Amino acid sequence: MSQRETWATRTGFILAAVGSAVGLGNIWRFPFQTSANGGAAFLVVYLAAVLLIGIPVILAEFAIGRRANVDAVKAFRNLDKPNWRFVGAIGILASFWTLSYYSVVGGWVTRYIAGSVTGNALAAPESYFGAVSAGVPAVITHAIFIAVTIGIVAFGIERGIELATKFMVPSIVVLLVILAGFAATLPGAGEGYAFFLSPDFGVVAENWQSILPAAFGQALFSLSLGFSVMITYASYLGSDDSLYADGLAIAITNTFVGVLAGLVVMPLLFAQGVPPGEGGAGAVFIAIPTALAELPGGGLVGQVIGVVFFAVVFIAALSSAISLLEAVVAYAVDTFGIARAPAAVGLGIAGFLLGIPSALDTAWLDWFDGLGVTLFLPLAVLAVVVFVGWIMGGEAVDELRRGSSLGVGPAWLWSLRTFVLVVVLVVVALNFNDLFLTPETGYYIVPAPLQ
Ligand code: TRP
Repeated sequence: MSQRETWATRTGFILAAVGSAVGLGNIWRFPFQTSANGGAAFLVVYLAAVLLIGIPVILAEFAIGRRANVDAVKAFRNLDKPNWRFVGAIGILASFWTLSYYSVVGGWVTRYIAGSVTGNALAAPESYFGAVSAGVPAVITHAIFIAVTIGIVAFGIERGIELATKFMVPSIVVLLVILAGFAATLPGAGEGYAFFLSPDFGVVAENWQSILPAAFGQALFSLSLGFSVMITYASYLGSDDSLYADGLAIAITNTFVGVLAGLVVMPLLFAQGVPPGEGGAGAVFIAIPTALAELPGGGLVGQVIGVVFFAVVFIAALSSAISLLEAVVAYAVDTFGIARAPAAVGLGIAGFLLGIPSALDTAWLDWFDGLGVTLFLPLAVLAVVVFVGWIMGGEAVDELRRGSSLGVGPAWLWSLRTFVLVVVLVVVALNFNDLFLTPETGYYIVPAPLQ
């Protein structure tokens, strides 16, 4: 049997994982969630959520992956717990599911790079978004985006994903710093910063019932947990380094990029008097282009900034899509012995087909997103926490000891068994409430187009 692939460098692994974590969520969700929930006060809560929930769970996925050295389903066989293969299977299913519509949004971003070059995307943002976000144009850009994703994954871990993300992640940071520097020069930037970060602990104290679970949920989502992605990426680790240090580095960089995105987006919107809104697609594809069009310089400045901004969003989305496809491809390669390139092409095309409804109608996209994020993600995280905490147990602590003399393994295990488990259970319960019990206010299990 040929040798299984590994990352060439430890930094390569960290950057690939950061590439997965840094995505649309950091740009269109995190800054708006922060500003709506008490600014810097929310940031404190979020940092606590990352530290108390995000890092313990990412370590749990790392421990499974590095110990088992194989895809996220077969991993449980290698750990002598074959009945628990469903844990990895939910994650892989979630990855495949998410890839299908993530790529549709990636396609919009691709289109917006071109639309910024020509200026069309800035001329009439609302109708432009309507024209490119659904129907045949969206199917075409969806195909382009997923083809690029396939192209990188087909080259494998070292020559594909590691090489690509080694350039992509630093580019995201450098370009965001440049954009933030530009945004700082705009009149009204101060107002944007104040809106984004000025601390209001009263808001947190008053709405903690909703803010705490929101922060915990976002910490899990933002670190790409529950998708078998971190299990898969850690399975390619060849040498033993400190997983604590790696997890911490990934979490810090991911949070840093979210804050940086806010320092770009908020001043830009405030300088042009564009209402910040609630984030999401409306912010990135309508509010930002509206603000860009009003920058001084006769439109040209707006176009240049627009190209850079959408390039950042593109790179962020692509490095996340790569990890989604890789989790599924690793399964085909390791469990079924299929060669990497055909597996990437075949599964990529399957993901493209599954995404067609989302490309044709954004109501389908919302439904796919709702089910993935509210149902699959928390269930998969719950399964990982129970498995590592109560089934793998001491073996997981041993795994973290490889490459680290830090003695916090037992405390980590007990936090998984108790605190983390309870918090994840609460998140699951709240999400199920949204899914099944409150169709008027939350996600509903029956897709809107079919209602
Ligand atoms: N972390 C990504 C973001 O913030 C979204 C995401 C969630 C993701 N789970 C994932 C990306 C799994 C890749 C793989 O946008």
